Order: sequence, then C-alpha cells, then structure tokens
Amino acid sequence: MSQPSAPTAAPSRFDVHRVRQEFPILGLVIRDRQLVYLDNAATTQKPRAVLDALTRYYTKHNANIHRGVHYLSETATEAYEAARRTAQQFLNAREPREVIFTRNATEGINLVAQTFGRRHIGERDEIVITGMEHHSNIVPWQLLCEQTGARLRVVPITDDGELVWEEFERLVGARTKLVGAVHLSNSLGTVNPVARIVELAHRHGAAALIDGAQAAYHFPVDVQALDCDFYVATGHKLYGPTGIGLLYGKAERLEDMPPYQGGGDMISSVTFEKTTYNELPHKFEAGTPHIAGAIGLGAALTYLTGLGLDQVAAYERELLAYGTEVLQQISGVRLIGTASEKASILSFVMEGVHPHDIGTVVDQSGVAIRTGHHCTQPVMDRFGIPATARASLAMYNTREDIDALGAALERAREVFA
Ligand code: ALA
Repeated sequence: MSQPSAPTAAPSRFDVHRVRQEFPILGLVIRDRQLVYLDNAATTQKPRAVLDALTRYYTKHNANIHRGVHYLSETATEAYEAARRTAQQFLNAREPREVIFTRNATEGINLVAQTFGRRHIGERDEIVITGMEHHSNIVPWQLLCEQTGARLRVVPITDDGELVWEEFERLVGARTKLVGAVHLSNSLGTVNPVARIVELAHRHGAAALIDGAQAAYHFPVDVQALDCDFYVATGHKLYGPTGIGLLYGKAERLEDMPPYQGGGDMISSVTFEKTTYNELPHKFEAGTPHIAGAIGLGAALTYLTGLGLDQVAAYERELLAYGTEVLQQISGVRLIGTASEKASILSFVMEGVHPHDIGTVVDQSGVAIRTGHHCTQPVMDRFGIPATARASLAMYNTREDIDALGAALERAREVFA
C-alpha cells in the first residue's frame, strides 16, 4: 500500500507520545503485537489520573455521601460535589446544580423524556429528531409517544451523512415541543450544526436536547454558547469510568420538571401523606449514586482540560484526515459518512467482505475496531447496508495505528479475495 502524503494542516503542539505514557493499557501486547485500539467510540481507555483517583477514593475516602457527619462521609461528599463543579466548568454550565450525575447519556435522555416529556408533551404534540440518532435518542421518545399520543418526526440525511436542512426547517413547527439531535454521529462521524438546531427549536418555542456522548471528548463543548436546554454526555467516553454520565439542564427547566426516580437523597421530607422533594441537583439523584464514578470522571475531566481540548481537537483532525486518505487508497473500501464537518469516525464497508469478517481479521493483527450497526439501525437502513466496520479515533492514537489498520485491511482483502 502506498503511503499517503502528510496533511497540510499546521503542526500541532499536542504531544501524543507523552499522552500515551499516561494510559497503561496501551502498552498491552495482543496476539504478539502491540495493541492498536481503534474502538474509542465504544469506550475509551483510562489515564493514570483516573485509575489513581479510583484507588485513592476506595483506599482513603470511601463512605456514603450527603448522609454522615463523620470525617469520611464529609470528605467523600466534598469530593463528589467537587467533581460536579469540575463537570460544570467542563461544560461551561452556569451553576453546579445544572449538572445531574446519571448512569450514562442514555439515562440522561430517558430522564428528560419521562420528566420534561411527561409534563410538557401531550397528544398530537411532536418531537423532532434526526435520522442519524443513536437508539438511545430514538427509543425513549418512542416510549413517550406510546404513553402520550405524541408523534415522532425524523429529519432525513443526505448520501454524505448530513442533515437535509430544508426538511429540518419544514418539520419543526408550532406542534414541536422538543428537538433532539446528536452532536457527533457515532456511525457516520458527522458533526451537526447544533447551535443552529437549538436556534431553530427555540424559534418555534420548543426545547432542544443535544446528545453529546460522542462529542464531548473530541472538542470543547460550551452549553451556554449553544444555548441548549439539555445536553447529555457519558463518563466512559470522556476517559472516565463506566456507569457515570452527565445531564446538563438549564436550571429553570430542571426546576420545572418532576423527579425521575423516588428514593433516598431526592427528598426533603417524607410522610405517608406527603413527600416534598429535595432541591437541584439532588432531586434527580435518588439513592446512593456512583460516588467513585463521579470522582473518577472529575479526574478525567481535569486531565482533559489540562491537555486542552482545542489541542486535542486539532491533533485528532489531522489524524482523521490521514486515516481518511489511508482508507480511500485501499481497493474496495467505501467510507460511509463523508460529511464536510466530521470528527473521529471512520465507518466503512469493503466490497465482498462482511464487516464482521473485517473485524475478525484485523483483530488477528491486534487491531481493535467495532463492526455492526453501532446502535444506529436506521442509519444502516438509510445507506442500504446491514453494518459497517468502524475505526474510531481518540487523542492517544497515532499515524502508526492507522498504518497498522491499513495493513490489516489489506490482509483482509487478500484473505477474502
Ligand atoms: N454507542 C457506542 C458506540 O458507538 C457504544 O460504539
């Protein structure tokens, strides 16, 4: 395979080799080869800062929060709430109480559907989403439509994987109560014009929810600049632990919403006759939360902020351009998702080879990619394919990783020729 020329973008100050040192798992040897991890859209690897924060928490601070008067409980509570402040700064929310810890992005969307949605979306109202949503931003709205008689409308996408803007403008109207859109598509890599989407929703009096599960670890997100009503993200893609996520909501929206789940910590007082609810953010965090997860996520966000997400974004942009060139030079490979604004994702099919077979063959070379529908079956239907193979980049990937993928794909082509 011939080597593509280097992209012409300005050299980045980002030091990938120094960053890689912080991720112990990247030193693993798999099948006698150095691990090449290109399945970051599924989950990212964890830096030492996160691993250390988890160990420190369980060895020095473990106690339940918001409940104890003893030293450990107080320090655990302070660490948990400090993580919330870190998340607030990371997303540029106005106040810490606008950040709710959830299990993941999926739970954040379900929370909004079942609280904001049950309160404000009724029969014949409409919810507008895009044709490139993850199932997690489709199914919660379908459930709500079944419960309320509301209607789900879907913005179509072009052959390049971009939104058909005229259709978006046509679909959002007086009946629309909520517009939901993915910031960065996990199966196409499209970066959507979310500020414009929020403005369109607001012009018609609708709320806007942005699914940032794939976006928030690739470039800076500023929820105040976007002016979105809700923004969801997930810890395990932000280089943090699994089982912890973030829901941002404007305070006035969250204040106005009923609780999602009932239980401990979300109440102010309970009698058998009447229960009153705690203030934000606790109203939405029933039961003992994932304390270690929140603290680990806080450590991840601090680490990312220290590196500078602008630097990360510039580095990854160069890497994506290089990866795109490499894949385009492999005979029989067709990229799915060629939007003009893209990040991180190289989704593709190879003539005559099922994506699952591609995944299995490249795994023999120690290269980890994902194959399947990526929880976006409507996207696969749109492109008339059952699945894609997907390499997804993170800030610790290198050109050598891309070259290893390219070589492994050449082998796959030979095996199935
Ligand atoms: N939604 C994640 C992915 O795209 C799991 O792989």
